[in-house]
Amino acid sequence: NTSPLIDAFQRRITYLRLSVTDRCDLRCSYCMPEMMRFLPKKEVLSLEELHRLSLAFMARGVRKIRLTGGEPLVRRDMIDLVRALGRHVGEGLDEITLTTNGTQLARHADELARAGVRRVNVSLDTIDPARFAQLTRRDALDQVLEGIAAAKEAGIAVKLNTVALKGINEDKLPDLIAWAHGEGHAITLIETMPLGEIDGDRIDSYLPLDALRARLEQRWTLKPSEHRSGGPARYFDIAETGGRLGLITPLTENFCGSCNRMRVTATGQLYPCLGGGEAVDLRAALRSDPGPHALDAALDRALAVKPERHSFAIRARGEAPALARHMSVTGG
Ligand code: GTP
Ligand code: 5AD
Ligand code: SF4
Repeated sequence: NTSPLIDAFQRRITYLRLSVTDRCDLRCSYCMPEMMRFLPKKEVLSLEELHRLSLAFMARGVRKIRLTGGEPLVRRDMIDLVRALGRHVGEGLDEITLTTNGTQLARHADELARAGVRRVNVSLDTIDPARFAQLTRRDALDQVLEGIAAAKEAGIAVKLNTVALKGINEDKLPDLIAWAHGEGHAITLIETMPLGEIDGDRIDSYLPLDALRARLEQRWTLKPSEHRSGGPARYFDIAETGGRLGLITPLTENFCGSCNRMRVTATGQLYPCLGGGEAVDLRAALRSDPGPHALDAALDRALAVKPERHSFAIRARGEAPALARHMSVTGG
């Protein structure tokens, strides 16, 4: 089956986000609680299953695959998957890339570049050592900065991902943007999304990006950019720094109308939308049928149930998050 993946709202799916593990070596406070419970390893798809699944999506027109987690680089055989998919870049695929927290990037940068990775997104919310340790609950800032430098050295373009957090990194965001642009990296700011229980309430750190943008515009000239990454960010060029700034605003301005993606968890659950809706069990399809038919039928089911838009809202203090599932399970 090579028919394109087009949903009920005429959106074409060309971007697959594939989580390879729900585990992570950091504990970012907006993402998970300190005592996060991870899945038993036996639940997770094998490398061969991840590969088969990727090929099924590619056959139906997916052009970009992003490996996520948890932290994708904590999975040992992950580089083998990158190599296998990297062989398709330029033919079946436009891009194989990953979103990483950077702690293991120094060790892997060269082999990622050799495998065909041209660009990575690295999560970095602050470059202040004390705040990094507080926010991620781990002391790994130097490792991350070394990882970013190693990627650049290996010829991989780095885009930083920064979750904008009131009272946590808000005051330092302009400095972080200036630093990133000085180092030659694009940077994208993200509104915190209400996925999964954390220690504390998200409403206390939720920072709407429309207000922040107005503040940035007092300091800099933000020019809307023609640049498109195929992801959810809207981009701006900052005249004074010469760098690019992305804004991801699921809460203040949703971008669902142009959605081109679906996501698969490490256990093979396909979520047609990050913001909820029912999951489709690709693992069952993979394991019940060694051929492509069950998997293709499952993809068609997912297209039929992909919702028009997410319905996120940051809940009031003490209320459960909008979605029980953590971002680290679906890979964002
Ligand atoms: P580019 O290819 O560089 O555009 O990357 P990307 O923004 O698609 O991926 P990345 O993994 O860097 O994700 C950045 C943020 O966007 C994360 O917080 C994701 O959870 C969020 N994100 C990605 N896709 C969606 C989506 O479909 N809906 C929502 N609400 N958020 C998304
Ligand atoms: N809301 C917004 N972004 C989040 N991330 C993790 N959890 C959340 C959340 N609840 C970010 C990470 C990473 C990207 C994949 O998603 O910082 O950059
Ligand atoms: Fe790990 Fe990313 Fe979640 Fe931080 S945001 S705990 S780095 S998965």
